[in-house]
Amino acid sequence: MRLTDLDTPAIVIDLDIMERNLRSVADYTRTHRLRLRPHTKTHKIPALGRRQIELGAVGLAVAKSTEAEVMVSSGTPDLLIAYPVIGRQKLERLCRVAQETQLTVSLDSLSAARPLSDAARGAQVEIGILAEVDVGLGRVGVQPGEELLALVQSIAKLPHLKWRGIAFYPGHIKDTAAHGLEELEKLRHTVSQMVEQLTAAGFHPEIVSGGSTPLLWHSHTIPYLNEIRPGTYIFNDRNTILSGACSLAHCAATILTTVVSTAPGRMIIDGGSKTFSSDRLAGSSEITFGEIREAPEASFHKMNEEHGYIDLHNTTAQFSVGDRVHVLPNHICVAMNLHETVYGIRDGEVVETWRVEGRGKLQ
Ligand SMILES: Cc1ncc(COP(=O)(O)O)c(C=O)c1O
Repeated sequence: MRLTDLDTPAIVIDLDIMERNLRSVADYTRTHRLRLRPHTKTHKIPALGRRQIELGAVGLAVAKSTEAEVMVSSGTPDLLIAYPVIGRQKLERLCRVAQETQLTVSLDSLSAARPLSDAARGAQVEIGILAEVDVGLGRVGVQPGEELLALVQSIAKLPHLKWRGIAFYPGHIKDTAAHGLEELEKLRHTVSQMVEQLTAAGFHPEIVSGGSTPLLWHSHTIPYLNEIRPGTYIFNDRNTILSGACSLAHCAATILTTVVSTAPGRMIIDGGSKTFSSDRLAGSSEITFGEIREAPEASFHKMNEEHGYIDLHNTTAQFSVGDRVHVLPNHICVAMNLHETVYGIRDGEVVETWRVEGRGKLQ
């Protein structure tokens, strides 16, 4: 099938760009002896997880236990649930997953660790634990220092759990401009202190897991960091460009849409919040929901569920009903969650059709 035969709206992935993204990060982590554990929140497709493993990733990460059930079919030798697992049903699911692959969970409380230990004992499995630290995002995680040490000491005593190290997500650092670099310097200091304090207390972390796509290429400058969990890098998006971690040439995924109505100075495309999500650009006050690749100066400024409003006053490009345009999304991960199927394109030909098996897996 040709790209021109695809119905819209549809997420289309330039396979050459995706493969280049996967290879360059695999090469980077190999050069710097970092374990690569891609977060699969971006693609949610076991076949792509399998490709990441083939290229050298040590394992994969997910956020939810239902996502873990899906992603285990990638054949990953090691799966990290990078999210506290709270609730009986989730624990039961996880213990079943732990019978199929080595499972590690990051958590920040004994209220999460104790029931996990009980469930693991019941299922006769051993679950790895990373103590989650808040390094500045203010989301989950204990504070570095005494709180972290106390958590690690308690985890180490729980049966059927194996303390493996620490995890953090530096999501508060959105770019590597001057302020971002200052924050990165603080992060280096925080991570060094944490690891040295734990080691001095007799708890040497085998895994120090952090990393994000915005900080990807700076990962090797963070002392002791030995595992990174970027997710977005497989496709990249407008936020990644803004972060400075990639350029347009590294953006693999666009959303193909059709012009369904025109009027002087504007057009409507057949995708709105159900297609793109309502995520705005990270750290920007500009109201824009994507970039029209065929008319980058046009403004995608408003959405209803099924309508995208494009203001054409700043572009000389002209469109008619039935024309198709590619939209570069602000945030590809949330858009993937809205689509049942995505298409891999090479030389204008649809050569892969993937079901987004991990979409809608909220529990
Ligand atoms: C815990 C955790 N790890 C890794 C990632 C992947 O980071 P990125 O989206 O910057 O690639 C995320 C993203 O939200 C995350 O929440």
